[in-house]
Amino acid sequence: MTKNIENLQAIAVGPSINLKSISQDVAPRLHDVIIREKERLSEFLHWPRYINSLDDTIRFCATSEKSFGNSNAIYIAEFNGELAGVISFNNLDFANGIGDIGYWLAGNHEKKGIVSNAVEALIGAYAGSRLIRRFVIKCASRNRPSRAVAERLGFKFEGTLEQAEKIGNEYLDQRIYARIV
Ligand SMILES: CC(C)(COP(=O)(O)OP(=O)(O)OC[C@H]1O[C@@H](n2cnc3c(N)ncnc32)[C@H](O)[C@@H]1OP(=O)(O)O)[C@@H](O)C(=O)NCCC(=O)NCCS
Repeated sequence: MTKNIENLQAIAVGPSINLKSISQDVAPRLHDVIIREKERLSEFLHWPRYINSLDDTIRFCATSEKSFGNSNAIYIAEFNGELAGVISFNNLDFANGIGDIGYWLAGNHEKKGIVSNAVEALIGAYAGSRLIRRFVIKCASRNRPSRAVAERLGFKFEGTLEQAEKIGNEYLDQRIYARIV
C-alpha cells in the first residue's frame, strides 16, 4: 500500500455518511445488498450478473482488500451505519496522478446526495494527500443519474467514446468526465 493511503482507509463524509476501506468481514452485508439490487444494477454495470453465491462476494472483498491502495481503492459507503453502496477508485495511476472513480448505491439510498458528497470527500482526501490530481468519471452516455453526479461536481465533459462499454450483450457509448485539482 502506498504510504499516504494508510491514512485514507476511513473517510468521514458528513454526520450521516462514512467511507470505509473494503474488508472481508463486510462480505455478508455487501452480498445481501448486491443480490437484492442485482437486476437494477445490471442496467449499467457488467459485473453484478456474475455474482451468485456468498463465496463470489467473499472473493471480491478479499482481492479488493489486498489491492487497496495499490492499483485501486474500494470503499463501502455507510449511511447512518447502514451499507448504502460502494464508492471506489477502480484504477489508481500514481505515476500520472490519475484516479478513475466508480460508484453504485442501493435503490433505497438514491437521491440523498450520498455519492456526490462521498466523491467530493474522496477528491479532497486524495488531492489533499498529493496522490491524485486528475479525477475521472466514465459512464454510459445514457446513464443520466451518473452523468448528473459528474456534472453536479463540476467535472468537465471531455468527449464520448463510441461503444466503449459492454453491459450484458450490448456495447454502449461512454462519456468521459474529468476534474483536475
Ligand atoms: C449513479 C447513482 C450512484 C446516482 O445516484 P444518486 O442518488 O442520483 O446520486 P447522489 O447520491 O449523488 O444523490 C444526488 C441526488 O440526491 C439529491 N440530494 C438530496 N440531498 C442532497 C445533498 N445533501 N447533496 C447533494 N444532493 C442531494 C440531489 O438533488 C440528486 O437528486 P436529483 O438527481 O433528483 O436532483 C445511482 O443511480 C446508481 O447506483 N445507479 C446504478 C449503478 C450505476 O449506474 N453506477 C454508475 C456507473 S457509471
